[in-house]
Amino acid sequence: MTDAPKIAQTAPYPVEVEEGKSYFWCACGQSSKQPFCDGSHKGSDFTPVKYTAETSKKVFFCGCKHSAKSPLCDGAHKGL
Ligand code: FES
Repeated sequence: MTDAPKIAQTAPYPVEVEEGKSYFWCACGQSSKQPFCDGSHKGSDFTPVKYTAETSKKVFFCGCKHSAKSPLCDGAHKGL
């Protein structure tokens, strides 16, 4: 059984990522350190999604947790 993720916010989180650095995106929506995992998913069916930055740039991490291109925003929040 998979629970629906909690919608952290219905907008993406812009983040300046650094080349070569890895980030763990919160998939469950429960983290208080959005858009990143803080371990709150423990006991649920969710696990964080690793994102490794290939270049230093601004990316938009999904905030609604419904993106089909997670961990990045695909505009899914507009339909919620
Ligand atoms: S706190 Fe949400 S995936 Fe870890």
